Amino acid sequence: MTYAIQPMAMKHYDQVVALWRTCEGIGLSEADSRDNVRNYLFRNPGLSYVAIDKMRVVAAVLCGHDGRRGYLNHLAVHPDYRRQGIGRALVDKCLATLETIGIAKCHLFILRNNAEGARFWERMGWTLRTDLRVASIYVGDPTRDPNGFDETLL
Ligand SMILES: CC(C)(COP(=O)(O)OP(=O)(O)OC[C@H]1O[C@@H](n2cnc3c(N)ncnc32)[C@H](O)[C@@H]1OP(=O)(O)O)[C@@H](O)C(=O)NCCC(=O)NCCS
Repeated sequence: MTYAIQPMAMKHYDQVVALWRTCEGIGLSEADSRDNVRNYLFRNPGLSYVAIDKMRVVAAVLCGHDGRRGYLNHLAVHPDYRRQGIGRALVDKCLATLETIGIAKCHLFILRNNAEGARFWERMGWTLRTDLRVASIYVGDPTRDPNGFDETLL
C-alpha cells in the first residue's frame, strides 16, 4: 500500500468530511463546517494531516493547540486502509510537529461508546484519563442543533 502524508488543506475538505461521515467513532457537529475547518487550519498551520492514495484521501486528522497543550480531533482511517500503520503515522506526525513548536503534551476526546478507538489509543501509549470529565456549553444560535451536522453548512 503506497500512501503519502500531506498537510491538510481546504482542497481536501470534501473528501475528509466524506471519510469522517463513514467512520464510526467520529462525532461531527457544526464545528466541522467548511468555514470552521478553514479557520482551524488557518489558526494551526501545518499541524493537521491527510494520507493520500492515488489522489484519494484515505485518512485524516485535525491537530491544533492553544499555546499550552495540543489537541487531536477526528483521526480516521478508511476501513480498507486500517491496521497498516497509517493511523500511527498521522499521530506521530502531529506529535512531532507539536514538539517542534514547544507543545509537549496533547489531549483528545474519545466518545464513550468508542471502545475500539480507546483500545487504539492505549496501544499507542496514550493514558485514558479517569480523573477528568468533559463539560460543555453551547453559546451559538439556539435554533441550530449543537450536536447535529448541518448539511447546509458544508
Ligand atoms: C482507530 C483508527 C484511527 C486506527 O487506525 P489504523 O491505521 O488502523 O491504526 P494503525 O494501523 O496505525 O495501528 C497502530 C497500532 O494500534 C493498533 N490498533 C489499531 N486499531 C486497533 C484497535 N481497534 N484496537 C486495538 N489496537 C489497535 C495496531 O495493532 C497498531 O499496533 P502496533 O503498531 O503496536 O502493532 C481506525 O481504526 C479508525 O479510523 N477508526 C474509526 C475512527 C475512530 O474511532 N477514530 C478515533 C477517534 S477517538
